[in-house]
Amino acid sequence: MPSRRPLVAGNWKMHGLKASVAQFEGILRGCTRVRGDVDLMVCPPATLIAAFAAAAEGSRVAIGGQDCHAEPSGAHTGDISAEMLADAGARAVIVGHSERRTYHRETDADVRGKALAARRAGLVAIVCIGETQAERAAGQTLAVVERQLAGSVPDRAQPDHLVIAYEPVWAIGTGLTPTATDIEEVHGMIRERLATRFGRPSEDMRVLYGGSVKSDNARELLAVGGVDGALVGGASLKAEEFLAIATAYA
Ligand code: PGA
Repeated sequence: MPSRRPLVAGNWKMHGLKASVAQFEGILRGCTRVRGDVDLMVCPPATLIAAFAAAAEGSRVAIGGQDCHAEPSGAHTGDISAEMLADAGARAVIVGHSERRTYHRETDADVRGKALAARRAGLVAIVCIGETQAERAAGQTLAVVERQLAGSVPDRAQPDHLVIAYEPVWAIGTGLTPTATDIEEVHGMIRERLATRFGRPSEDMRVLYGGSVKSDNARELLAVGGVDGALVGGASLKAEEFLAIATAYA
């Protein structure tokens, strides 16, 4: 039997100052309301990782980064390595988010390098993939997602170091979401490809859905076949909203 604990992860993007620790503490206080077998994670900006990790110590909420460099150290001004994230208290890192792919021109090969770096540093890589509106309109969704999956996920991936997040680019921050049937189709394809490539261990790899997950659609989205949790952007910034999403697992 596959053992895939649901994961609800918040991506705070470039939001949050020291004062936001109070908001995060609201999540820590309220997380007892979330079903015991649901894993919780918050990925704040890098400047807040250490503070959030300190606040979360001993709790069930893990802390993640939002990006990392492929190298452990070096002359890369402004970049942060996976080892540095781990050192600051992160247990995971998002790689290949569509905002990184678009605004920083990250390729599948770049994302694979970052996922490898995450593994090297002992972090879980949350690898993001997803089609644009134009690609969906052109009927290329499955082909695009399949190509990103093949190119972004390193060989010999293991479930304890890899999470996939299917995030249609057009659903991110827009309030739009795919139909349950569309999500199920993409997740089904992803799971099939993971099985072909990694065999039995792939059954324990989690595939999240992301893109405009909110408290009022969480129950429906999280119930879709093959969805093992959510990557939540905007709605993760408010403790009550994030907890309402996580408690959709009743
Ligand atoms: P959103 O973002 O929930 O604000 O749509 C999701 C994401 O970018 O991971």
